Amino acid sequence: MGGDWWRGAVVYQIYPRSFQDSDDDGIGDLKGITHRLDHVARLGADAIWLSPVFRSPMADMGYDVSDYCDIDPLFGTLEDFDTLVARAHDLGLKVIIDQVISHSSDQHPFFADSRRARDSAKADWYVWADAKPDGSPPNNWLSVFGGSAWEWDTRRRQYYLHNFLPSQPDLNFHNPEVQDWALSVLRFWLDRGVDGFRLDTVNYYFHDPKLRDNGPEPTEDNLPAVNPYEMQDHEYSKTRPENLDFLARMRVLLDEYDNRTMVGEVGDNPRRALKIMEEYTSDGRLHMAYSFDLLGPKFSQSHFRSRVEGFFKAAPEGWPMWAFSNHDVIRHATRWENYGSTDAVARLAAALLLSFEGSICLYQGEELGQTETDIEFHELTDPPGFKFWPDYKGRDGCRTPMVWDGTAQGGFTGGTPWLPVKAPQLARNVMAQEGVAGSVLETYRALLAWRQGSALRVGRSTFFDVPEPLLAFRRDTAEGSVLCLFNLSDKAQEVPVAGLTALDGPQDGATLAAGTLTLAPCGWVWTRCGAEAAAG
Ligand code: BGC
Repeated sequence: MGGDWWRGAVVYQIYPRSFQDSDDDGIGDLKGITHRLDHVARLGADAIWLSPVFRSPMADMGYDVSDYCDIDPLFGTLEDFDTLVARAHDLGLKVIIDQVISHSSDQHPFFADSRRARDSAKADWYVWADAKPDGSPPNNWLSVFGGSAWEWDTRRRQYYLHNFLPSQPDLNFHNPEVQDWALSVLRFWLDRGVDGFRLDTVNYYFHDPKLRDNGPEPTEDNLPAVNPYEMQDHEYSKTRPENLDFLARMRVLLDEYDNRTMVGEVGDNPRRALKIMEEYTSDGRLHMAYSFDLLGPKFSQSHFRSRVEGFFKAAPEGWPMWAFSNHDVIRHATRWENYGSTDAVARLAAALLLSFEGSICLYQGEELGQTETDIEFHELTDPPGFKFWPDYKGRDGCRTPMVWDGTAQGGFTGGTPWLPVKAPQLARNVMAQEGVAGSVLETYRALLAWRQGSALRVGRSTFFDVPEPLLAFRRDTAEGSVLCLFNLSDKAQEVPVAGLTALDGPQDGATLAAGTLTLAPCGWVWTRCGAEAAAG
């Protein structure tokens, strides 16, 4: 796929714990993933992104790493990893792995040394600060998972910073030794043959060394948020200017290798997100920035247009990665269930996402139109789920096992799955949709195949002014153009189109007559067209 294989690529996110179990312990593993990679290749993805499989106490399901260069026995061994990479490459799939270097587990030997004494070898590898005279934390920074971002340690009689769980202490990237160590971890996996990295919390690496208080973030409805973290403008606890130089150091490292890529997860206020994504993907830094902007409840022309068109206006040289679902948010087939039947919304969402200018990330199960599992309190495993129940149930609901067939556990495991496989999710299994015309699975396969050779991969976008709930744009390359039109509602819509005599591409509920396109509820069309084609 050449040097810029990642530009316009479709990446399939695998959550290893829930993809395929091979030893019946109820937890997915590397051998299981290897066994199922042909499903991803058949779907038509270009690459996989593996969520963390490194040694971890699993306080945050692997996003709390205790050994960055070894595989957790739950998932297998380094040899199993090598086998997976080789199989993926045989299938023409690139392999991107998660890198969680902003914080480690508190069980990592580095932290054990850092907390032991103020003059230990790793004393300055984490972010330590004295209590205020009254014993309270050094400032008002909050944790994403609730409470203060500071935890008291009796050994050093100081606070340490954790943007997430107290068991996820933040590494101090102001320390050059930490930066050099982080680069050495990336080099270890590059030498092992991975094709790139998904950089967890990429804008959290640096904090303000003056520890200035964050200010308030005005809430949209002036009500307290479920999670007070949302009420703070995190100006000083993340997205610091020093980060830009470190991102450039990472890029210099990757450019030593052939055809490698980095996508950084940019989690910040929507007010800031586009500017951060622009900064992070220009001037020799990251290849791509993973956007949070389409992971929420908004489902409208104005929202989608403002983010996609807005990105390229802000960052003409940058490159986004768009996703509708992942292991952290309610599945979009459920988020947008009020806009139509689950299957119709899932097919519409597939056509939408795969038409946007940028690279695309699909989350395991979305190709089935998978819905959010309704989790009971006694089934919870995710810390923020316990913390904020019932208004926020945590992330277990989007992490339940992939379902391959209609047997009791969906063919995921012969044991008891770590999260339940419930009837609504089981009904959407791969085998039940295999070969079924119009199924969500066959729709994803058809769209991915059609997209590969079309202007949808890297063509530039021209949006048209059409009324809600319509969305219309054209994608252009020198080789050809594609007109994309969507009805984001459960009512039929009509829209005048110019420069079209027939529809030539995949569609769902679209008819063209005498210059007027009619779209059925949740209808959409991708059609090859001339560069003069327009809508509205
Ligand atoms: C990951 C989450 C994780 C958090 C802390 C996020 O980017 O996607 O699953 O809990 O970082 O590592």
